[in-house]
Amino acid sequence: MQTGTRVEEIGAFKTLEQFIIERQEQQEHSTGAFSRLIRDLSVAAKIVNWHMRRGGILDIFGDTGEINVQGEVQQVMDALAHKEFVRTLKRGGECCLIGSEEHAEAIPLRANGNDGGDYIVLLDPLDGSSNIEVNVSVGTIFSIYRLPEGFGTPTVEAALQKGAEQVGAGYVVYGSSTILVYTTGNGVNGFTLDPSIGEFLLSHPDIRIPDDGTMYSINEGNYNSFERGLKQYIKWMQKESPEEGLPLSTRYIGSFVADFHRNLLKGGLYMYPSTTKNPSGKLRLMYEANPMAFIVEQAGGAASDGHTRILDLEPEKLHQRTPLYIGSERMVDTAKQFLRGERD
Ligand code: AHG
Ligand code: MN
Ligand code: MN
Repeated sequence: MQTGTRVEEIGAFKTLEQFIIERQEQQEHSTGAFSRLIRDLSVAAKIVNWHMRRGGILDIFGDTGEINVQGEVQQVMDALAHKEFVRTLKRGGECCLIGSEEHAEAIPLRANGNDGGDYIVLLDPLDGSSNIEVNVSVGTIFSIYRLPEGFGTPTVEAALQKGAEQVGAGYVVYGSSTILVYTTGNGVNGFTLDPSIGEFLLSHPDIRIPDDGTMYSINEGNYNSFERGLKQYIKWMQKESPEEGLPLSTRYIGSFVADFHRNLLKGGLYMYPSTTKNPSGKLRLMYEANPMAFIVEQAGGAASDGHTRILDLEPEKLHQRTPLYIGSERMVDTAKQFLRGERD
């Protein structure tokens, strides 16, 4: 992004709506339905952002006292973000089924036969929610599939498609500014919300992740329960060896979406491996790993469960978890070599 842009030049930026329409016009036979879906998601993000910016004053930070489907404490903002996304997608009419971290079952929106659109949206309405109360960046992550042929009334089975089948994916970070980043399989673009005009403006066109990075992100408090290869990889990254570009730096926010966003722009690797507490990893395949894997690959990076490409994993359940290694391609490759025991 160009720095020091003068305020009166704000009109020079392309809005998200203009960008979507331009892209749509380039596609033959486009009905505009997908563009409307992205528009709806961006509207929901603006509403959640509105809540977030007032949260401290309105006393809507803190927990609900409920435990969600993941067995985790639900924050008031988790529930609110879920409600706003469901409501906006329902009203928009392009989505037929929602799968959300905050709801045990998939939510069908196609009530009678054919009204409701052809897209399935899986989402983490609020990622990093334990960070809300302390003013640290949080976000939303979404994954989009087309409803496969033969599903009159969509059920959860319709949503259980491999990540490689996604037709779109994106995330929003509610941070020092609010940014929406998305892909439809044709590169990755980022739009910063200008609160004064209420528009997302194209601030980060055609994002590419550096092939290599100097930062790694992992909850090292779990070190003792990591597998041997991962422990060796971490020790290698901490080596005092300037000629090899080592040691690397640790950056771990505890909001996947924010850690991912930083690593996407600067180069880096995010890892949530299997641990004693979470033997299959902590992050969810369908609405955390898959959408970010689609984005990172589109930006030139890589995503793996340590052995298999994330986008090739066959899903079995809406809320299933997966170990995750995601970021700069060379760093993911090195991690895999250590995990396979090829290096020490
Ligand atoms: P969520 O708030 O949607 O439940 O996700 C929290 C996730 C992720 O954002 C973060 O990177 C990770 O949990 C942090 O887990 P640890 O506290 O175990 O490191
Ligand atoms: Mn999350
Ligand atoms: Mn969440």
